[in-house]
Amino acid sequence: MREIVTLQVGQCGNQIGYKFWESIAKEHDINPANGQWEGTNEKLIEKASVYFQDIDLSGGSFTSKIGAQSTIVQEKSIRYVPRAVLIDLEPGVLDAIRSSPSIGSFFKPDNFVQAQNGAGNNWSKGYYTEGAEIVEQVLDQVRREVEGTDCLQGFQMMHSLGGGTGSGLGSSLIDKLSQEYPEKIMMNLSVLPGSASSDATSDVVVEPYNTVFSLKSLVESSHMTLPIENQSLYRICTQTLGVQSPTFADVNYLISQSMSNITASLRFPGVANNSDLRKLSTNLIPFPRLHFITQGQAPLVARASSAYVTLDERELTQQLFDPRSFLCEGNPANGRFLTGSLLYRGQSVSIGEVEHQINAMSSKKKAHFVDWIPDRLMTSVCSVSPPHANIPMCGSSLFNSTTISQTFQRILEKYQKMYRKKAFLYQYTQEGMSEDEFHEAQASLEDLISQYQQYQEMQTGEDEEEEDEDMNVGAGAAKQSLSSSLRSFAS
Ligand code: GTP
Ligand code: MG
Repeated sequence: MREIVTLQVGQCGNQIGYKFWESIAKEHDINPANGQWEGTNEKLIEKASVYFQDIDLSGGSFTSKIGAQSTIVQEKSIRYVPRAVLIDLEPGVLDAIRSSPSIGSFFKPDNFVQAQNGAGNNWSKGYYTEGAEIVEQVLDQVRREVEGTDCLQGFQMMHSLGGGTGSGLGSSLIDKLSQEYPEKIMMNLSVLPGSASSDATSDVVVEPYNTVFSLKSLVESSHMTLPIENQSLYRICTQTLGVQSPTFADVNYLISQSMSNITASLRFPGVANNSDLRKLSTNLIPFPRLHFITQGQAPLVARASSAYVTLDERELTQQLFDPRSFLCEGNPANGRFLTGSLLYRGQSVSIGEVEHQINAMSSKKKAHFVDWIPDRLMTSVCSVSPPHANIPMCGSSLFNSTTISQTFQRILEKYQKMYRKKAFLYQYTQEGMSEDEFHEAQASLEDLISQYQQYQEMQTGEDEEEEDEDMNVGAGAAKQSLSSSLRSFAS
């Protein structure tokens, strides 16, 4: 079995993380209060060991009783435990999860790694000072989790980029893990701070600093990053779902639904494409640095909703391409899609109808895609229905779109405004950061934005040498791999 180890870092990472576990436990019929499988449909548990370790309590040793070849012998002594390490530099959120009767004992007690002081919204504290105190302890727990796998496929990290812990300690962890496990995929679910100019979802003035520093690590060490913008989620809640004053519980519910759908192809058997992280990222990412993937979700339903929502393949496809279904800002009409991957779920989903709808949408949206990647839309169908009886069919979309560079541009502008005046700089330098790092982080993001723009404008048949002249170093390096990446992408 190809396992995934999850790291959830900081307040946001853990609050999203525990909703994710709650949601996928339900899908596999695992009771998070005691880790017991309470289902009867073996298909639901067959591939659960990607995310859950099955511990044989009777013998005290860890065994793998699930998998394609083995007969499933379900005994009450098997306990399913999330392959998750929960990390925070302040105790509040982890204490709350640990003491929750519904989910607290689901996780291994040793996998809660925490400190007392927090990182006070300061990336440098998370990366260098406060974070450095516990980073080895975290890595030890991660190594233990890796030892408990047969063949690790990679890591999944959930965190925000605006504070100090998820951003700073999160960056440190992905940098270190990518050195220690260079062959393994690192996927990040990263909540960006608000990037709109007048922004109700942004609560900390130095968020642009923390975000730009984190993005440098993500560009270099993450293979696939799913950015989430809270402002998009608040917009979905208020405008689409009619939730008047959305809370984190409302937006985190949307995130957990989307993450459940995206990972369904990894967790359930019988899905032809996108059945592991490497396949998913290979199909979506033609250039290693351009790995910031916009996710969409359909149908969108509110946390408290019990409405019956029946969308057919055509309606699902339309919604999955609609920017109002996206979990981050940006209208694809203002940029270009490089690639896309759509996952449909439900017992009654027809593969033929999905293909028909995708072909129709592909022709209709032709102008929104770069024309130099053929077969850029990938589909997969998971016959396991969504866990809500009132939603027989659902789907999620993953798009590699150049529009994400507009979000990065807005964050960069906020960063530059403060950095030009050297505002708040001392808070970072006194925690061990050098001013060079400010330059480097800014240059890294500028490079990324310009790469996106170059690929957005690139047409088939353009003279490569001519373009190279305009390209900066990072874009030039990515360009060198253009032909080989495209070859492997198309194969
Ligand atoms: P420090 O507290 O500074 O040590 O770091 P941290 O990683 O714990 O910070 P936190 O996760 O609170 O980061 C702040 C950013 O995350 C802000 O942009 C918040 O809007 C966002 N955020 C915090 N909690 C949640 C949450 O539960 N859900 C969502 N969607 N966003 C959150
Ligand atoms: Mg915190």
